Amino acid sequence: MKIIITGSLGNISGPLTAQLVKAGHQITVISSNENKKEDIEALGAKAAIGSVEDVDFLTKVFTGADVVYTMVPQQAQSNDYKAFIRKIGQNYANALKAAGITKVVNLSSIGAHLPAGTGPIAGMHDVEEILNKLDGVNIKHLRPASFYYNFNHNIDMIKHMGILGANYPAGTRLVLVHPKDIADAAFEEITQPFTGTTIRYISSDEKTAGEVTAILGSAIGKPELPWVEFSDEQSVAGMQQGGLSEDVSKNLTEMGTAMKSRTLWEDYDKHKPVLGNRKFEEFAKEFAEKYNG
Ligand SMILES: NC(=O)c1ccc[n+]([C@@H]2O[C@H](COP(=O)([O-])OP(=O)(O)OC[C@H]3O[C@@H](n4cnc5c(N)ncnc54)[C@H](OP(=O)(O)O)[C@@H]3O)[C@@H](O)[C@H]2O)c1
Repeated sequence: MKIIITGSLGNISGPLTAQLVKAGHQITVISSNENKKEDIEALGAKAAIGSVEDVDFLTKVFTGADVVYTMVPQQAQSNDYKAFIRKIGQNYANALKAAGITKVVNLSSIGAHLPAGTGPIAGMHDVEEILNKLDGVNIKHLRPASFYYNFNHNIDMIKHMGILGANYPAGTRLVLVHPKDIADAAFEEITQPFTGTTIRYISSDEKTAGEVTAILGSAIGKPELPWVEFSDEQSVAGMQQGGLSEDVSKNLTEMGTAMKSRTLWEDYDKHKPVLGNRKFEEFAKEFAEKYNG
């Protein structure tokens, strides 16, 4: 099949592209960076260099494809993150329609059942709705849990402050996923037939914030690493110090509140998937390599 992958060689799109090429499909990978062309071609895929902000570019690349995998990239500096996410969703819808695509696998998120109160995930809720309006298009919305790799952003906090923390307490339940388990699920959906518009949740493990801290702490030789609950104000200020815009920091802090109140997981709990193979302890080894490297 002729398949278009957005998200360059990112956490999901990289392993997904490798699997699809290995299975004999014709893959085109969209990247915004000319320098990635060589790496994409080395995997056996074709590179399409351009931006998901450019509908004409997307339409040209999508035309003639059997399946398109859509994902909205992060934008750490955005002044209106939800509007950016919605805009990319609308770009995809316009390009999919113009290109006459009939099968889409869309990367959404756990919590996308809620229209508000979840930070950036509310934008992904809107993207689902925008895509669902397309006539005659079969769509699978992947709703993965919170990525293990998010903890890589806390390495500086651990190194400089000797703590791990967020705006929720140590007892908060976290539903987590290894991006490679998402790639496996995306591979299945892309290569198998489906009809209509459906949702698939993907998770690999469940831990409390305190358990995560103990596992990561042990993996890096700091078994006493404490989890510290921040106020919302401290959370926003800390993220801004780490280089995120005020709007993105506020959005991610709101997402933390939805984790604390458990609303983020409520629809997932009604449609629980079989957990993926890659457990948090396995990720902790990857985390330790990154921390020490
Ligand atoms: N973090 C979570 O817990 C979580 C949970 C649920 C869902 N999600 C979703 O997962 C996404 C991240 O997926 P991922 O980890 O696989 O991605 P990723 O590793 O962050 O890679 C995304 C890639 O997209 C490319 N890109 C950025 N801006 C672009 C543009 N304007 N046009 C074209 N390409 C562009 C970049 O590569 P180039 O430099 O090569 O262009 C970037 O590396 C999030 O954005 C969110 O939508 C995240």
